[in-house]
Amino acid sequence: MAVAETVFACQSCGAAHAKWAGRCDACGQWNTLVEEAALAAPVGASGRLRKPAKRGRGLEFVDLAATEAAPPRLTTGIAELDRVLGGGLTTGSAILVGGDPGIGKSTLLLQAAALLARAGARVAYVSGEEAVDQVRGRAARLGLADAPVMLAAETALEPIIDGVRRDKPDVVVLDSIQTLWTDQLGAAPGTVTQVRACAQELVRLAKKTGVIVILVGHVTKDGQIAGPRVVEHMVDAVLYFEGERGHHFRVLRAVKNRFGPTDEIGVFEMGEAGLHEVENPSALFLDSRGAAASGAAVFAGMEGRRPILVEIQALVAPAAFGTPRRAVVGWDSGRLAMVLAVLEARCGLGFGGRDVYLNVAGGLKITEPAADLAVAAALASSAFDVALPAECVVFGEVSLSGDVRPVGRAEARMREAAKLGFSAALAPQGAAGLAPGMKTAEIARLSDLVTRIQTGAMEELA
Ligand code: TYD
Ligand code: MG
Repeated sequence: MAVAETVFACQSCGAAHAKWAGRCDACGQWNTLVEEAALAAPVGASGRLRKPAKRGRGLEFVDLAATEAAPPRLTTGIAELDRVLGGGLTTGSAILVGGDPGIGKSTLLLQAAALLARAGARVAYVSGEEAVDQVRGRAARLGLADAPVMLAAETALEPIIDGVRRDKPDVVVLDSIQTLWTDQLGAAPGTVTQVRACAQELVRLAKKTGVIVILVGHVTKDGQIAGPRVVEHMVDAVLYFEGERGHHFRVLRAVKNRFGPTDEIGVFEMGEAGLHEVENPSALFLDSRGAAASGAAVFAGMEGRRPILVEIQALVAPAAFGTPRRAVVGWDSGRLAMVLAVLEARCGLGFGGRDVYLNVAGGLKITEPAADLAVAAALASSAFDVALPAECVVFGEVSLSGDVRPVGRAEARMREAAKLGFSAALAPQGAAGLAPGMKTAEIARLSDLVTRIQTGAMEELA
């Protein structure tokens, strides 16, 4: 006898539990279990797997070597987006575009849809969040109202699938996956059961009909796509659209891509008329740099395969009272604590009784250990009140022993710095001579750097 079973599904990882609990055993998140109708389980009442309804001829095996050509690609006309995708949209693929609400996902996809449609592709844009008039209004503001995009506002899955099967677009954008629901399930829209089921159907649609399905997903504060983390496994590519509120730049990052590299980023600037591509991100981040001041160091960083130069600012000030403050924006506070400890233990530069503030200019978030040396340089520069030469970049990883370790892609970093008019570098051993015209001081130990800054021994670089 069929009984309508319910389970408690974790909205973060999708794990199903028989009983409610405050914390999900599977992923450790609190307050994420929600009661939902169970999906038809492939297990019979006896606990054994049910027999398949019918048996075919069995699995057909093929050769490892491909006989057919790679699936064709559709270029969107937005170079930064195409690059992140690995050279355009692959026919029959499903792509998830995640990001915080309000970051610009709908804007990006509407722009891409309009450009594709203008180039002759059949593009459908289905909005589950905005009414048709709102999308039209946005298109008009972006100057895209003339593009022949097929527009609809719908949240029910079945009409969407039927419409796609009937009108056969090349690309369909679904904004957002969290608003979609299918009436075959009892669960509310936005729950993990609904999101998973809808995504599964849409991925199947992509594979069967060759339509390119682009799903938009909202992300939670801690950077996970809310609920549909399960969707990440199903789709061919997962792109994150990131940025800081109050800053105009946006970074599109591939975190998974079955058809291209995952270390590519695309950089955009949000303006009055939508998103603009930024071809030279370093120029954007160094834009508002003033005259050389103490506490600032330009870090020659890498974002994926792209070199990005960004200013790191430190302020070391006497603590007013009590425990000194350590405040960091754009970098890892644990990593800052490590650099402070190494400066103290290996270089004799103490920060006890002093507040330390660290900021990565422009709102960029840096995760590379290669920033260690630039952070240390900014801290020492502020502590001694000695400015670094204005035309100097810094990079290198610092170990607990106080050694400065070489980092990957030193040549790309040096070349980008030279291209942007920098003429000197403080870098790990082996960096000298990598870019023509760059005066390079190779730093083997962090204490060398501190001594140089303290004594102002930087003339060779100026
Ligand atoms: P949106 O694409 O709606 O974000 P998402 O779909 O990720 O939730 O972006 C909305 C924000 O972008 C909104 O705060 C206004 C801003 N914006 C601009 O600054 N310029 C523009 O041309 C557009 C269309 C939006
Ligand atoms: Mg939106």
